[in-house]
Amino acid sequence: MNEIISLCKRRGMIFPSSEIYGGINSCWDYGVLGADLKRNVKNAWWYTMVQMRDDVVGVDTSIIMHPDVWKASGHVSNFTDPLVDCKVCKQRFRADHLQSDRCPACGGELTEARQFNLMFKTYVGPVEESAAQVYLRPETAQGIFVDFKTIQAASRLRVPFGIAQIGKSFRNEVSPGNFIFRSREFEQMEMEFFIDDKKDDEWFEYWVEERFKWYLDLGVNPARLRKRRHRPDELAHYAKACVDIEYEFSIGWQEIEGIAHRGRFDLTQHMNQSGKDLSYYDDLTGEHFVPIVIETSAGVDRTLLTFLVDAYAEEGERTVLRLHPRLAPTKVAIFPLQKKPELVEKAREVKRLLQPYLAAAYDETGSIGRRYRRQDEVGTPYGVTIDFDTLNDQAVTVRDRDTMTQNRVVIDQLRNFIQDRMEQYKPLR
Ligand code: GAP
Repeated sequence: MNEIISLCKRRGMIFPSSEIYGGINSCWDYGVLGADLKRNVKNAWWYTMVQMRDDVVGVDTSIIMHPDVWKASGHVSNFTDPLVDCKVCKQRFRADHLQSDRCPACGGELTEARQFNLMFKTYVGPVEESAAQVYLRPETAQGIFVDFKTIQAASRLRVPFGIAQIGKSFRNEVSPGNFIFRSREFEQMEMEFFIDDKKDDEWFEYWVEERFKWYLDLGVNPARLRKRRHRPDELAHYAKACVDIEYEFSIGWQEIEGIAHRGRFDLTQHMNQSGKDLSYYDDLTGEHFVPIVIETSAGVDRTLLTFLVDAYAEEGERTVLRLHPRLAPTKVAIFPLQKKPELVEKAREVKRLLQPYLAAAYDETGSIGRRYRRQDEVGTPYGVTIDFDTLNDQAVTVRDRDTMTQNRVVIDQLRNFIQDRMEQYKPLR
């Protein structure tokens, strides 16, 4: 993890927010390459979960919602962590994260645990009074539940179908940490799948497998990925069953995504709280019913950290991020062998040729070896060198990040060559 944190900082990928003021605990900024990587993670999820499916649609709902949403969802009364204070050093801890009943920092005596609600409160409008109090959403899911009927009717969807969304969520975590693994402002990629009551267990298992496969398809090492079924005593207040997808970080096996059987909890609660009918009308059978929901919920930042940790390797002189090319912030880097005007001009021409189709970088400074290494450590899968022969044969050298093999490719074929390689990519283990 420390190597990843320092690489992210050194290359301006991810670093503490408001750093010139000393930072703010557990809030992070994504710099140029980090923002590209994050967008690629979200695009890869949207591609699989929305674009490639006939039964899932995508939405974008607001962060601030009516406060009654969170009463209905159970978050006002149940979304809490047990908090203890050290009577000596005054530090605060999550009681369920402690190994003993003494303070882990100084060994002092701890207070009794009290429940601390994780939702951030704020006010709408100019008056700070309880009537104007709202919350920043702690999950994106509720936006989907309250809009369920509108979206279903407008899209003329029939069960089984899903509604997906990517967006920011906020939790005032008692003990954030481990870089972007647990922070107070983060993004989620969630999908709520609405079904009748006939095949709920099958659908649940289906989504567990689909989501597990997504990580494998994006190159994550299967030996460090597992599914873990929740015991009844660890289920969230809304869940009938839950399976976590976990990754083995240096801090141990940790949840990166949860697949939950939410039953009819959310829709029923919102029907009761709002007084509005959120049942589904089946025009084939003439039945009205409240659908059951299977949810898949992943954190963008946590997933991104998984891809980074899994891709990181140190090999002799070089550090390399073996990111799947679909995730890599830059797909191809273009280098003139020397800083000679005719090579620079040709290299820029090659960049302009690729740029509309592939995120491309250009670098003319330092030795070619150094330039390769600079791109290796940010995961650029292909390097293209323009040399003096290029001016005669209109061919370039393409170097592969993982195998470091080199191929001579004519410029006319270059785009196809790289795109074919990206499509056929297999992680090197
Ligand atoms: N709608 C269900 C839900 O929100 P969750 O298990 O609380 O379930 C789902 O969160 C995912 O969101 C987690 O698996 C994790 O990837 C991400 N997540 C949750 N809290 C987070 C935090 N404080 N920082 C970063 N990611 C977080």
